[in-house]
Amino acid sequence: MTSNLLKGKRGIVFGALDEQSIAWHVAEKCVENGAQISLTNAPVAMRFGKIFDLGKKLNAEVIPADATVLEDLENLLKKSMESMGGKIDFILHSIGMSLNVRKGKNYTDLNYDFMQKTFDISSISFHKLMQTALKLDAVNEGGSILALTYIASQRVFPDYNEMAEAKSLLESFARSFGYHYGVSKKVRVNTISQSPTWTTAGSGVKGFKEFFDYADKMSPLGNASADACADYCVAMFSDLTRSVTMQNLYHDGGFSSMGMSPALIKID
Ligand SMILES: NC(=O)c1ccc[n+]([C@@H]2O[C@H](COP(=O)([O-])OP(=O)(O)OC[C@H]3O[C@@H](n4cnc5c(N)ncnc54)[C@H](O)[C@@H]3O)[C@@H](O)[C@H]2O)c1
Repeated sequence: MTSNLLKGKRGIVFGALDEQSIAWHVAEKCVENGAQISLTNAPVAMRFGKIFDLGKKLNAEVIPADATVLEDLENLLKKSMESMGGKIDFILHSIGMSLNVRKGKNYTDLNYDFMQKTFDISSISFHKLMQTALKLDAVNEGGSILALTYIASQRVFPDYNEMAEAKSLLESFARSFGYHYGVSKKVRVNTISQSPTWTTAGSGVKGFKEFFDYADKMSPLGNASADACADYCVAMFSDLTRSVTMQNLYHDGGFSSMGMSPALIKID
């Protein structure tokens, strides 16, 4: 599904760790659709080296940035504008990590230092990114900023743990910053709420396979793939969606509108 929807646009894609990462698919699709991009990830994630292969393939500069560090974000935005020759048109925030989940902590026995780090990485980094971009006037009028989220922000999925609150905060930052960025610079800000997807972050959730299969059966269209998510991101970065802002957009095969599905219960 290739067009030239992003021709002439410059973008920054966070979070491409390996081929499974949703951001990896988004980066590929953006370039297929005519965009020029830079890639970024936390310096520790660079150790795997895969992002450099992607950078080579897409002719994209790879710029390390810990998304919780303001100086790194400033450097990333400046270097991206320099290397691509102008202001940025779109940004994908595809970052999530929970220390409590990683350490196997139960929701009723959380470590609060870990929790703060989780929120800083998974949510506050989005505000930091937008505040830095606004101060540098780094995004063109009509620009589009997206973050990826999950429905556990709005409904209870017990094993999603503190990431539920991290995603609620992320979605709220999109709405509130979307107001300010819209009024001052006509930049739009949205979140895409994606189906469970097999990636490093996704499969860190306890019982992920069962969770994935359940959502797949519950959704009339089945789970949305990372590839389909990338298409949706391209649409959201394009001018075709120029009046959409401050929204949490479900990309989940219909899951979020379901109450029960006959596919999941056996009636004799
Ligand atoms: N996989 C799913 O089931 C699913 C579903 C809905 C939403 N999401 C969201 O999609 C986004 C991408 O996750 P993914 O599933 O592609 O997994 P992933 O593990 O491939 O991506 C997560 C990325 O976050 C990066 N990251 C972590 N700490 C960072 C930091 N301090 N600075 C910069 N980057 C940092 C990691 O290096 C990694 O590239 C996340 O926000 C995730 O919560 C995932």
